[in-house]
Amino acid sequence: MRNTWIVQDAGETDGRGCPDDTDERIPGAVCVIGLGYVGLTLAVSLAGQGRRVVGVERNPKVREDLARNRPHVHEAGLDLDTAVHSGRLTVTDAVPSGRTVDTYIVCVGTPVDEAGCPDLVQVEAAVRAVGEQAVDGSLVILRSTVPVGTSRRLLAELRTRHDIDLAFCPERTVQGVAVQELRSLPQIVGACSPRAGARAAALFRELTPDMVETSDLETAEIAKLACNAYRYTVFAFANELARLCERVGVSYREVRETASTGYSRAAVPGAGPVGGACLPKDTAILSRSFADHGSPASVLLDGVVGAHRSTPARIADRVMDRMADLADGTPLVVALLGVAFKGRPETDDTRFSPAVDIVTHLRERHGGLTVRSHDPLVPAAVQGAFGYVPCTEAKDAVEGAHVVVLGTNHQSYADLELRWLTDRMASPGVIYDAWALHADSATSLGGAVEYLAFGEGQPAWTW
Ligand SMILES: NC(=O)c1ccc[n+]([C@@H]2O[C@H](COP(=O)([O-])OP(=O)(O)OC[C@H]3O[C@@H](n4cnc5c(N)ncnc54)[C@H](O)[C@@H]3O)[C@@H](O)[C@H]2O)c1
Repeated sequence: MRNTWIVQDAGETDGRGCPDDTDERIPGAVCVIGLGYVGLTLAVSLAGQGRRVVGVERNPKVREDLARNRPHVHEAGLDLDTAVHSGRLTVTDAVPSGRTVDTYIVCVGTPVDEAGCPDLVQVEAAVRAVGEQAVDGSLVILRSTVPVGTSRRLLAELRTRHDIDLAFCPERTVQGVAVQELRSLPQIVGACSPRAGARAAALFRELTPDMVETSDLETAEIAKLACNAYRYTVFAFANELARLCERVGVSYREVRETASTGYSRAAVPGAGPVGGACLPKDTAILSRSFADHGSPASVLLDGVVGAHRSTPARIADRVMDRMADLADGTPLVVALLGVAFKGRPETDDTRFSPAVDIVTHLRERHGGLTVRSHDPLVPAAVQGAFGYVPCTEAKDAVEGAHVVVLGTNHQSYADLELRWLTDRMASPGVIYDAWALHADSATSLGGAVEYLAFGEGQPAWTW
């Protein structure tokens, strides 16, 4: 078997989709399909544990980046270099034969459409490709998040050809610290049989000590969705309270502290706009699963999705109310600090970024808006694709801006001084702090820049 770093396109494969020159079987070799945030961290981590890993990725740009030892996603501690130089990780565009690998792990995307319907095109294509290459005894592990019942349906399809073992072993890491969490979180293992469960658990025990083995595939599927839908739900609760606090004129942070001090039964989380590729989507998938299984819709989950969805528009209204005097056609400059969907743990991922949504709503409310942006991790080209003028330094984004949106809770924005902002901004102006990072220090008076913060309803402080 070729043991060097290779990147192959279909034209270079040997016709069977096998990335190797021969059919030589490497015991325990694993094929990871889909090298995004989930697949790449898993592939590199398994290679780091001594496994021979074949990564399959359909996107040529991603394969090129990886071949140049440049991960296309930011994950702290991702040691692609060692995986490459050890020769244990190879990347290709075609699923290898089950004669060369023991296990296939499907890590492709499972988005939802505008209406919240799961789009399983990627998963179905990947499983179809696996079905064409697998052999009797191959282990297929589904790691993508899927609607309840999907694993069993895909198992039935795979078994029309071969005697396949299938397990559903969902990813539950948080983006940004996935490498570390892969080694510390318990791994859920749902399987079609005790043998499949034992095989999948043995593989993941190389990464993390604790397995949570479920009675069936569906329990694992619901448990995975529950993890993200639960978080999204409590964040919606916090944000609803924050909305009330703004109207009443009090501080959500103080309400939270008051409710939870010495009283863990009300340990409500902090408030702030929530997005990303997982929490909204997985809540929608769980909600949809009720109808799929003949149950009335979940009013609760639908409400959670709706509450989060309305947040960016509400923020834009609040900002534009304050800018009313300038909203008469005066060209406005907005500085967006933080384009990613979150700042802690830091990520370069902009999928369903609430900061981006806030700016989109601001643009809808004011035609002549120039948006300058800054983000510590999001590449300039990605920022530019939103129609922003990307700035390498935050100060260049802020200089002369009428509105500064602190869009994420990245530490570098928490470390900024409000005075540093007001010295550079236009006046009058508005600072909107989506994570109330500076609510404690926003007490100075004088000037005409207003400070507004998510969930903070006190009369705005004015410089
Ligand atoms: N991102 C996270 O932190 C996270 C956490 C938990 C669970 N998940 C779930 O894991 C899954 C993957 O998430 P992600 O964020 O890594 O997605 P992603 O979109 O970043 O990566 C998916 C990758 O799969 C590739 N791909 C799609 N179809 C393919 C095919 N047939 N063959 C080869 N490559 C193919 C795509 O080009 C892409 O690079 C999703 O179901 C997601 O909900 C993600």
